[in-house]
This record gives sequence, C-alpha cells and structure tokens, in this order.
Amino acid sequence: MATYKIAVLPGDGIGQEVTPEAERVLATVGKHAGVSFEFERALIGGAAIDATGHPLPDETLRLCRASNAILFGAVGGPKWDDAPHEKRPERGLLAVRKELDLYANLRPARCFPMLVDASPLKRSIVEGTDLMVIRELTGGLYFGEPRGVEKLADGGTRAINTMAYTSREVERVARVAFDVARKRRRRLTSVDKVNVLVVSQLWREVVTRVGKDYPDVTLDHLLVDNCAMALVQRPTGFDTIVTENTFGDILSDEAAILAGSMGMLPSASLGGAVGLYEPVHGTAPDIAGKGIANPIAAILSAAMLLRYSFDMTKDADRIDAAVLQVLEAGHRTADIAPRGSRVTGTKEMGDLIVRALEAQY
Ligand code: IPM
Ligand code: MG
Repeated sequence: MATYKIAVLPGDGIGQEVTPEAERVLATVGKHAGVSFEFERALIGGAAIDATGHPLPDETLRLCRASNAILFGAVGGPKWDDAPHEKRPERGLLAVRKELDLYANLRPARCFPMLVDASPLKRSIVEGTDLMVIRELTGGLYFGEPRGVEKLADGGTRAINTMAYTSREVERVARVAFDVARKRRRRLTSVDKVNVLVVSQLWREVVTRVGKDYPDVTLDHLLVDNCAMALVQRPTGFDTIVTENTFGDILSDEAAILAGSMGMLPSASLGGAVGLYEPVHGTAPDIAGKGIANPIAAILSAAMLLRYSFDMTKDADRIDAAVLQVLEAGHRTADIAPRGSRVTGTKEMGDLIVRALEAQY
C-alpha cells in the first residue's frame, strides 16, 4: 500500500478550523482508495511566533521537506499586526514558498451554478465563469532586492521594494500556465503592465516566445488595469490567466468574488518537489473561533492535493462531486447563505461532505 506523508499546517484564525475538515476528507479518501496518509502537524505563522518566536520554525520547514505534500490553513491576525516586518506571521508563508521553490500558484475561480446568487455581481455577468489564475509566487515585489527602509538626510524616510524577474523565472511559470491551459479550454491571457514597466516588457517577450512551443494554445496579452476591469465585466471571457506575483495576489482576490465567496476558493502552489495546498481566504479574524467558517475552500484544496501531488484524479473528482452534491442539497455556510436562511457550521459542513464522499465509494 502506498504511504504518503502530509504535513498539516493549520496556522492561525479560521485556518485552525477549516484545515481539520480537509484532513478528515483526505483520511476518508485514504480509507477507501487503499493508500495510507500519514498526517503530521506543525506550527506556522502567528501560532509559531507565540510558541517559538519565529513564523517558520526550522522543525516545520524540515517536516515540509520530508513530506509528500503540505496542507496549509492561513496565517496572520490582528494580534501580530504591530510585530516587526520579519516577525510577522505572513513571513512564515512567504518563506515556505521561497524555500520550497513553489513558483506557480494555481487559483481556480468557478461560479458554482447553485451559488450564482451568492455573488454580489449580477447573475448575467458571473454565470458560467470558470477561470484559473496562475500567479508567479516566488519573485517580483515580494522578494526583489534591494528592499528595506532608510533614513534620509532631510529627516524623511525612504522605503524600497523591487520588482525584478529573470527570463528563467518568467519562462518556468509560463510553461506551467501553458500546460494548464492545454488541459482546459486552450486559451491563455498573460497579464502585465507593459506600457510602464520594463519588467513587463521582459515578461511579455518571454511568454510570447514560450507560446511558440504551444501552437494549440491561443495566447493574448492584457494590461493589468484593464484585466481588473474585464474580470468583473465579462469574466466568462477568460480561461487561463498568468501573471506576476503582486498582480496575481490582487486579481485572484477579485476573481474570488466571481465564485460567490472567498470561502469557496482553493489553491495549489507548485514547482519544487513538494506541493502546498491552501484555501485562498486567509485567517478571517472577524469570524475566527466561532465555528462558522466555510471549510469548502480547504476541502477543495485537498482535492487539488490529490490531483497534482499524487495523481489521484478519480478521488479528487469524488471530493469535487461530494462538495457539489452537498451544495445542491441546499446546505450553506454563513458566507454563502441567503439572508435569513438556515446556516450550516464548519464541522457540520465537513460531516456532510465526508458522508457524501463515503457514498461515492
Ligand atoms: C495570498 C495572501 C498572502 C500573499 C499573504 C498572507 C502573505 O494574500 O496568499 O494571496 O500576499 O501572497
Ligand atoms: Mg492575497
């Protein structure tokens, strides 16, 4: 029997609540699919700062490297907002991405038919949306040098971040994006700011060159400001989008609204030897600890884990189907429930999905 080791990093806020539900779903798959998942928990983010003083303890990084995949929750929260930059919970996540070379971040945004009305956007706009944002994750402004803060002679202060990309960094994420587009509707939109940034000139050149190897994928280019508008104007016009780190951070949150709620959006971070899977929603401090967070993004991330790290396509499909079935039956967590209707809690939603999944085997 195949044995896979999965590092479980719940982190902070609702990460603590939704990650166990995703773990249960994976355990259910393991039971039926004849594979053994070995889960091991570790600290990251604010929880790790409180316990060890560091957002990414060495022990956690070691566990990640020794695992076959990482199930991640979320990091951050008001408690650590005043911490110095290098000691913020977010540094833990950024360091994992960098250390494990997770340069390609896949963020699918789909408008589930039964949730069309959960989106604040009009049905006529969002209906049928099914797109994938591929965000470069280890370069650009997030990691570029020089960076820092300096005091100026005039008594003022200057702060610096640098947007830098090498052609190699652009090429490798572009290849992932073309490969993904090939398995979708064979359309790739590369998003940049070529009218202003030299980085974007390089980005566009390299993506165009890589595109020659994918004659079956239609490539087009869009400026990021224009893309931000098009995403809420005609989202169904998009298939696969590839863009640099910061643009992808912003556009993927925007795309979440197309899916009705951030609580529905999974993600996969790929590139190095070990993939990391996390819901896009973050720690949601306003609802943390109440047992009402939507576990679906985490559960769909678990499905991506099976799909991309273990090639367990059928089992991933079963999870996706179980989620759909539970939604079709009318169960809703608070974030996707119509006003005044009955609301399902985090654990109850997890139970329902596990039960629907069991029935598929
Ligand atoms: C995300 C988050 C992170 C990011 C934060 C928590 C560092 O917003 O994954 O989109 O900016 O990458
Ligand atoms: Mg973000």
